Amino acid sequence: MSKVFITRKIDDAVIQELKKNFDVEGWDSEDEAVPRDVLIKQAGECHALLTMLSDQVDEELFSSAPHLKIVANMAVGYDNIDIEAADKAGVIVTNTPDVLTDTTADLAFALMLATARRISEAADYIKNGDWTSWSPYLLAGRDVHHKTLGIIGMGKIGQAVAKRAAGFDMNILYHTRSRKLEAEEAYGAQYKSLSDLLEKADFVLVLAPLTEETRGMIGAEQFRLMKNSAIYLNVGRGPVTDEAALIEALQSGEIAGAGLDVFEQEPVSADHPLLSMKNVVAVPHIGSASTETRFAMMKLAADNIKAVLTDEKPLTRVSL
Ligand code: DGY
Repeated sequence: MSKVFITRKIDDAVIQELKKNFDVEGWDSEDEAVPRDVLIKQAGECHALLTMLSDQVDEELFSSAPHLKIVANMAVGYDNIDIEAADKAGVIVTNTPDVLTDTTADLAFALMLATARRISEAADYIKNGDWTSWSPYLLAGRDVHHKTLGIIGMGKIGQAVAKRAAGFDMNILYHTRSRKLEAEEAYGAQYKSLSDLLEKADFVLVLAPLTEETRGMIGAEQFRLMKNSAIYLNVGRGPVTDEAALIEALQSGEIAGAGLDVFEQEPVSADHPLLSMKNVVAVPHIGSASTETRFAMMKLAADNIKAVLTDEKPLTRVSL
C-alpha cells in the first residue's frame, strides 16, 4: 500500500478519505512545523508528501526519498519547494490555486481598509479605555474609495482584488509579467511600468510570487518613488520586500503606512520593529485562512495525491 505523510494536523475528513486507499501518517500538531529530521525520515519511506509552505522541500530531501512520487503543497505559492530538484528526481509537485483566490483577495482588501482607516489602532484605543470624547479628527484615517490602487502581480488574486477595487470606484493600475487584457476591460485596470505605478499609487499592493526575479524587488529606491502618503501592502511573499528599507521608509515618513500579511522571516519575533509601529497593521500570513478555504486547500492537495498514486493526472500540477 502506498504511504502518505502529512506534515501538519489537517481536517480528519480529508485524512479518512486518504486512508481508504493509502497508509497515512502525519505530524500531529496544528501549530508546530514538522522537525526537519522527521520530514527527511518520512520522505525516505513515503510515496507522497502533503506539505505546508513552512516545509523546506529541497535537493537533500529528494536525494533521500527513493519512492517519492508527489509533493502536494497546501498553498498556491511553492517557493518552499525546489522545483528543479523535484523535476530531476522525477517527483510531481502540485499546489492549490483557484480555491483560495477570493479569500486571499478579501484579506488583501481588508488589510488595505484596516491600514487606511486605522482599524487595529482604533480597536486598541477603545479596548484600552482611552475613549473619553468624540472629536473631529479622532483616529481619522485615509479614504480608500476613489483612490489609486497599484497592484504588483496581476494573477488570479490580483484580478480578484481589482474586481473589489472597481466596486470602491478605485483607479486601478497594475504591473505584472504580461498584460491582462481581461482585467483592463472588466475593471478599467491600466498596465504601468513599475516606477510609474509606484509614483502614482495611493496604495501599493504586492501579490507577486517569490522568485529570483522578485526577491528584494521593493527596496529603498522603490519606496523613494512612492508618495509620502502611500500605503504599502504585501500579501504575496515577505522576501519580495527589502524589510530594512521598508522600516526606514516608514520611520523617515517616505511612506505613510503598511499592511503586511507576510514577512522576510516567518514567524516574526514579538520584538520585530514593524510590530511596534502604529502605522503598520501586521497579520500572521492568513491570506487564505478561512475555514472553508483551508478545507478546500487540504482537499485539493489530497485529491492531487490520490490522482498521482492511482496513476491519474494531477489536478493542479506545478510546471517548471
Ligand atoms: C499561499 O497559498 O501561497 C498563501 O500564501 C497561503 O495563505
